[in-house]
Amino acid sequence: MTPIRIERATTLKPKPTDENNLGFGSIFTDHMLLINYDEGQGWHDARIVPYGPIALDPAAMCLHYGQSVFEGMKAYRHGDDILLFRPDENFKRLNNSNDRLCIPKMDEQLLMDSLVELLKVEKDWIPHAQGASLYIRPFILATEAKLGVKPSDSYLYLVILSPSGNYYPEGLNPVKIYVETEYVRAVKGGTGTAKTPGNYAASLKAQDIAHKLNYTQVLWLDGVHRKYIEEVGTMNVFFMLGDTVVTPVLDGSVLPGITRKSTIELLQEWGIKVEERKLSLEEVMEAGRNGQLVEAFGTGTAAVISPIGELHCGKEEVVINGGKIGPITHKLYDTLTGIQWGNIEGPKGWSVRI
Ligand code: COI
Repeated sequence: MTPIRIERATTLKPKPTDENNLGFGSIFTDHMLLINYDEGQGWHDARIVPYGPIALDPAAMCLHYGQSVFEGMKAYRHGDDILLFRPDENFKRLNNSNDRLCIPKMDEQLLMDSLVELLKVEKDWIPHAQGASLYIRPFILATEAKLGVKPSDSYLYLVILSPSGNYYPEGLNPVKIYVETEYVRAVKGGTGTAKTPGNYAASLKAQDIAHKLNYTQVLWLDGVHRKYIEEVGTMNVFFMLGDTVVTPVLDGSVLPGITRKSTIELLQEWGIKVEERKLSLEEVMEAGRNGQLVEAFGTGTAAVISPIGELHCGKEEVVINGGKIGPITHKLYDTLTGIQWGNIEGPKGWSVRI
């Protein structure tokens, strides 16, 4: 195992006292993980240091051209153990994002070993309250000081940790979704399948419009035909049409979500018909009109399963399952969170115990 140097913080921050109201992503722990990359040296100098600001040259390429990727994971407390959910999938996806952004790949064993070390140092920060977990944010920044557009020759990998509750204040209450017809999130051949900050920056305008209209998130359509459904907000999306659960196929602009993949695998295990295919907005709206749209939900690491209660498109509003969470959505939420917190035995390899 690559040695990981640990420099402990001399003063520790107070832990949150109300674990039932942590919000999402605004409290940070005492330490962070750093690994450098330099051309000729590769990834080196893995270290855990006190959490704090990092020094970047103002010409650092990540600041100018967005050469950066990130991941989202969670650590769960189960008695004395720490549990992770399919971390191998996150590290595989990080390397796929690296490939798209011309960032040198990282050794997945180093990613796992260094995260385990960080979690051991920060174990006391993992919340005890039901529904709360330690959100893990690995990310990579291009650090070379240069204004020419090219791949950087140096990078910094970081992991920061944030004790968090629900991503949406609605929790498990259904969210209202605004169908975005003007702006798009990604196009085939672009960076939509990579987890890179530019995709999220591109989503802000539509999200802002939706929020002002009192909708929680945006439903994204494809960038070419403006016809096919892609994702919802920061999540993948599923619709139950009659007895079949349908989710947009991963055909070049949709993020390959790990909760998405797990949802498909659970539905298949339960014998529920599930299809990954092109799905037009019109098909969903028509199913809404004729009573065939029985459930809808988003999936993501941060939100887990987020029921959709209402879709707003132009002048039309479709209410799903009377605006209440549907039984399949509920079962998926209970099962996934049960596996994540170690209360339900999941498929082999999903839950990793530290
Ligand atoms: C996640 O679900 O972990 C994400 O990365 C979405 C987000 C909070 C940007």
